[in-house]
Amino acid sequence: MMTSSSDADAIIAICTTADIVVARRLTRQLAACLGFGSADQTRMATAVSELTRNVIEYANHGECRISDASDGAFNCIKVVVEDHGPGITNVAQAMQDGYSTGGSLGAGLPGTRRLVHSFMIESRPGLTRVTISMSTRKDAP
Ligand SMILES: Nc1ncnc2c1ncn2[C@@H]1O[C@H](COP(=O)(O)OP(=O)(O)OP(=O)(O)O)[C@@H](O)[C@H]1O
Ligand SMILES: [Mg+2]
Repeated sequence: MMTSSSDADAIIAICTTADIVVARRLTRQLAACLGFGSADQTRMATAVSELTRNVIEYANHGECRISDASDGAFNCIKVVVEDHGPGITNVAQAMQDGYSTGGSLGAGLPGTRRLVHSFMIESRPGLTRVTISMSTRKDAP
């Protein structure tokens, strides 16, 4: 039987900075397994670090799901980071470089969007979910 591509290969509860390290390592491992080069592995792992860091900073805890979303033509790694915290009041503003309510750089979300191939964010009180992915052609040299 074929495994559904929506199945998560790893689900990591995000509560402490140690969990960020685990999420980062598992992301890198799956990306390597799927044939992504070292620069892309680092991009995806860095994106996951930023998103999970936001979870701890703004929502206390949440979850990170890492999955193989490959199809016939492309290898694809997909990561969903979500929490049930207060939500982002103005997502468009939060996506701007330099906007931070935490007195930080405000580079996490916009930087993450630039690092990956696909970036989706939804946020309302009680749910913030960011879905990112990277794809690489299976026959790529
Ligand atoms: N999971 C979240 N829940 C609630 N608010 C969030 C969440 N993630 C981000 N935000 C809001 O969006 C803003 C921008 O996030 P972003 O990661 O870009 O910057 P930052 O965390 O403030 O700074 P940096 O990531 O550069 O240290 C945050 O300051 C915060 O107000
Ligand atoms: Mg951040």
